[in-house]
Amino acid sequence: MTSEEYIKKRPELIDMIMERRSIRKYTDEKISDGDIEKILLAGHYAPNATNKQTWEFIAVTNMELNKKIAKIVDGCYDTISDILDDKDAKKAIKYSKFYATFFKDAPLTVYCVATPYISGNDASYAMLGEEGRIYRENRENAQSGLQSVSAAIENMILAGWALGIGSVWLTAPIVAKDEIERILEIKEGRLVAVVAFGYPSQAPKEANRKPLGEVVRYIR
Ligand SMILES: Cc1cc2nc3c(=O)[nH]c(=O)nc-3n(C[C@H](O)[C@H](O)[C@H](O)COP(=O)(O)O)c2cc1C
Repeated sequence: MTSEEYIKKRPELIDMIMERRSIRKYTDEKISDGDIEKILLAGHYAPNATNKQTWEFIAVTNMELNKKIAKIVDGCYDTISDILDDKDAKKAIKYSKFYATFFKDAPLTVYCVATPYISGNDASYAMLGEEGRIYRENRENAQSGLQSVSAAIENMILAGWALGIGSVWLTAPIVAKDEIERILEIKEGRLVAVVAFGYPSQAPKEANRKPLGEVVRYIR
């Protein structure tokens, strides 16, 4: 089967990818445990570096806890704003604050943790010393562990969309990373993203993307 034929067999997936938009407002409807598990399982089935599955997903349906965390995030942005003197910088922080806490009313919030990723080759790279530093750094800069979690997040978002559940991927709350990690008792790894899920209470806006030609180069 050619790759074209393979993709044609699954046109609904392509449609879903094209139609998905970030959803930042949700109805009060709860998400069933079964659907929550489907979303999490989709994340866990993502491609990941050397199949080490170096991730942890903390699924919070406790709205009080999410609200408490949202308050902490807001507080961090207020502190940052207080430290800043520059008017424009303060304005930019206010904007980030607005975009940081959509999870506070979401029936499901998944806190995504990148647990330590050590590839089988890392010990070899460590032996390279100064002479091979550039190769080691090139490898590290790929941040394979972080890329793996990102793949899982997108899988979860698409799985949610397939179930009629909207979501938004958030990194703005990571400003309060240490405090959130303490509350969620994250012992190993680092919190890299917060994903809010819920049934949409707003119609998604039209997709807004640069023309494909601006971001793609074909070399034939
Ligand atoms: C790594 C990453 C971080 C993001 N952080 C935030 C965020 O903190 N707050 C927010 O409202 N949206 C956030 N988003 C959502 C983007 O704003 C959104 O995906 C983008 O504007 C494109 O819109 P669309 O998802 O509707 O296609 C983030 C998305 C990604 C991939």
